[in-house]
Amino acid sequence: MPTEQDLSAEYRTVMGHFPTGVVVVSGISGGAPVGLTVQSFMALSLQPRMILLSVDRGSTSWPLIAAGGKLAVNVMAQGQEGVAMTFAKSGTDKFAEISWAAGPETGSPLIEGCQAWIEAEVAQTYDGGDHVIVTAHVLAMRTASDDDSQPLVFFRSKFRQLDQPALVAG
Ligand SMILES: Cc1cc2nc3c(=O)[nH]c(=O)nc-3n(C[C@H](O)[C@H](O)[C@H](O)COP(=O)(O)O)c2cc1C
Repeated sequence: MPTEQDLSAEYRTVMGHFPTGVVVVSGISGGAPVGLTVQSFMALSLQPRMILLSVDRGSTSWPLIAAGGKLAVNVMAQGQEGVAMTFAKSGTDKFAEISWAAGPETGSPLIEGCQAWIEAEVAQTYDGGDHVIVTAHVLAMRTASDDDSQPLVFFRSKFRQLDQPALVAG
């Protein structure tokens, strides 16, 4: 009979087989930049344009971002695994060595070198177990990359890179 701990570990392993991109969700709190690394991010709605992410209830940065109601999603590029790790550590001065610019719509930090960014305004939050599900309206967006740029991928607990040519659509 598997214990709750066994099932929890198995769940993490199984979910780790689903590859995702990696983003840093950022905002401004009391004039200072804040942010955290997130993989549970997706496009939600086209009309109106909305995004969805889920945040651990233990996050210390999210309540600061939520209080302002505005955020930026920075899509990490290949080579930004160090940035992703920096923003995955609670209670540190995450922006100490990060170059960023204030987003035109929200002032939220747009991190230099990312693949794309989206500025958004929080619409709703919902209960998601030990996470909070956040929906937000897109206010501004831009791809910062050229066609050859590559994303940062997270798969089976490791950062990876896409180095295969695109498959032909079936
Ligand atoms: C690849 C990766 C993906 C992550 N995805 C999420 C996520 O989807 N939601 C979340 O709340 N935390 C996620 N985390 C963990 C947070 O980044 C981490 O708990 C961070 O310390 C939170 O910082 P904070 O306390 O400053 O908010 C992820 C971490 C990594 C490395």
